[in-house]
Amino acid sequence: MNVRATASAKAQRFDPQTSTFAADVLDGLSRQPKQLSPKYFYDAAGSELFEQITVLPEYYPTRTELGILSARSSEIAAIIPEGAALVEFGAGATTKVRLLLQHCRIGAYVPVDISGDFLKAQASALQRDFPTLRVAPVVADFTAPFELPKAVAGMPKVGFFPGSTLGNFEPHEASAFLRSARNILGPGALMLIGVDLEKSDRVLHAAYNDAAGVTARFNLNLLTRIDRELGGDFDLAAFTHRAIYNRERHRIEMHLVSRKAQTVRILGRSVSFRAGESIHTENSYKYSLERFTTLAKSTGWTPQISWTDDENLFSVHALVASA
Ligand code: AVJ
Repeated sequence: MNVRATASAKAQRFDPQTSTFAADVLDGLSRQPKQLSPKYFYDAAGSELFEQITVLPEYYPTRTELGILSARSSEIAAIIPEGAALVEFGAGATTKVRLLLQHCRIGAYVPVDISGDFLKAQASALQRDFPTLRVAPVVADFTAPFELPKAVAGMPKVGFFPGSTLGNFEPHEASAFLRSARNILGPGALMLIGVDLEKSDRVLHAAYNDAAGVTARFNLNLLTRIDRELGGDFDLAAFTHRAIYNRERHRIEMHLVSRKAQTVRILGRSVSFRAGESIHTENSYKYSLERFTTLAKSTGWTPQISWTDDENLFSVHALVASA
């Protein structure tokens, strides 16, 4: 997964002033309704649980997107200019980018991620397998403006944003991201973006409430992280995972619901929960092809091709940056 938190817990322990994680947790839990940001899911344990989610039988997005990328690899290769710099927004598992590197004549790979350690490990693993590829990682928050490395200045640009990470953005954030990516990549650039599609409640519900309980563990791990890094005393057995599809707002909502009235201590403060009260931990927005292409057009992009799988579960779009 792509959005990783930077908070180095030990150094910042018990100092909300210097710790974004601590400040965000205290702020989110003082709101009504309570909320926490999904970017904090991805500590080492959370990243591992997410990798387990991607291979669950019920979790269709990862395997469906890989299926589309592999079925369409020659079409994709045909629209990627030779010697292009491939700029990946966020750097998780390299499975998808490897597929592109095998089929296209990419000149440079520029993974952009806020987690420097993880980024460098992924980049050097890739460099080993593609020794002639120029790999130029950028440590940056890709939702804000950043500079591309000088080494790729003259190359055609191709953005890559797979995994429906866009789904974690609120509608105004999705617009801002697409506009910012257009500015960073420049006129004429290509963008390949994976976007999850709206579908039946049954399929969506199963994907976020898997029978093996991995998604529940992934959600609850946020409380484990707060306990460990912020000295919290959450009792995991007193909270339950809930994921529902909100069709009006086109999004899966994940919650952690308090099983009883209880008070939790975090960083020396008390946070009280009513029985049944929830912490809203994630939104995962789903799009129709129409709603996504309309969004792209309004943010400086011209939709060129949209690919889907046979069951219309997931979509991959090629967009061209308007002049
Ligand atoms: C990584 C944001 C695309 O929304 O499907 C998976 C995260 N949350 N199961 C998604 C997630 C619960 C995932 N994204």
